[in-house]
Amino acid sequence: MTVSSAPGKVYLFGEHAVVYGEPAVPCAIEVRARVGVERRDDSKLRVHADDLSLDGFTVEYGGDAGERPDIDVSESLLVAATQYVDSAIEQVRDVTGEEDVGFDVTIESDIPLGAGLGSSAAVVVAAIDAGTRALGTTLEPAELAERAYRTEYDVQDGQASRADTFCSATGGAVRVEGDDCRSLDAPDLPIVIGFDGGAGETGELVAGVRNLREEYEFAADTVETVGDVVRNGEEALAAGDVEELGRLMNFNHGLLSALGVSSRSLDTMVWAARDAGAYGAKLTGAGGGGCIVALDPTDETETALSFTPGCEDAFRAELAEEGVRRIE
Ligand code: PMV
Repeated sequence: MTVSSAPGKVYLFGEHAVVYGEPAVPCAIEVRARVGVERRDDSKLRVHADDLSLDGFTVEYGGDAGERPDIDVSESLLVAATQYVDSAIEQVRDVTGEEDVGFDVTIESDIPLGAGLGSSAAVVVAAIDAGTRALGTTLEPAELAERAYRTEYDVQDGQASRADTFCSATGGAVRVEGDDCRSLDAPDLPIVIGFDGGAGETGELVAGVRNLREEYEFAADTVETVGDVVRNGEEALAAGDVEELGRLMNFNHGLLSALGVSSRSLDTMVWAARDAGAYGAKLTGAGGGGCIVALDPTDETETALSFTPGCEDAFRAELAEEGVRRIE
């Protein structure tokens, strides 16, 4: 078996605005998805997923394009386990020229699905890395990130930014502006995450912001203002000024809220973190539900979140210096 792991991410700044060409700063976190592959002697894929939900499941498919496996799990799980893996393995076939290769694939992930922590990107990055290595090819992080981006682009019908996949492949903090992705120097960040147990509908949330932008000039200005916050955030990151980062994250959350992508549970967690003394807190990712990210070097925010109604899980996450990791 060849096994790779890849980290999830939080957005320190800039989600949604990045769709309209503003910069964004995501940051990889030590919460990982692991993907193991074993070459088969036919061209099928067999996917076994543990920990993506409480119940693991196995699905075997292959052959006809568009075949939907007959299996009783939620659509998001099925997509995570089949479409993303399917498309990732297509990239493996493309890179290696082994067009008919099949694999047994095992996925284990500690990253909640669809909650703004980049779960699908981590699975895709780890799957492409493990699949190519199993066939004797080791990809550089930039090529891996590009292949993983194409995978997400295909599965999400073109609605993908490079942020999650680049961040997951390379690790660390990253600056994304359009097609330009680069690594940033970052201090050790005291990241705390609160998860409401839910997930937002990324497509609907992105469409909501697009509509607001088209309808109101001040909404378009709000998106541009997010870009200004991001540029200030980059300076604070470079200076290692964690308190300033927190203040700017608070501002970014306010703007995201104005754009209609927060939710009651996200706002409740953000305020619980602020009341507990966090330097700052904001939603991460598409919003609508899912996760918030706060900065607090003490235990106060994690403790407060764990007692906050609507917060299902609160945990500390180190910045992941290392992106994709080759395990065996
Ligand atoms: O929820 P996530 O982690 O998939 O982030 C979505 C980020 C958006 O900016 C809303 C969309 C995008 O593709 O950049």
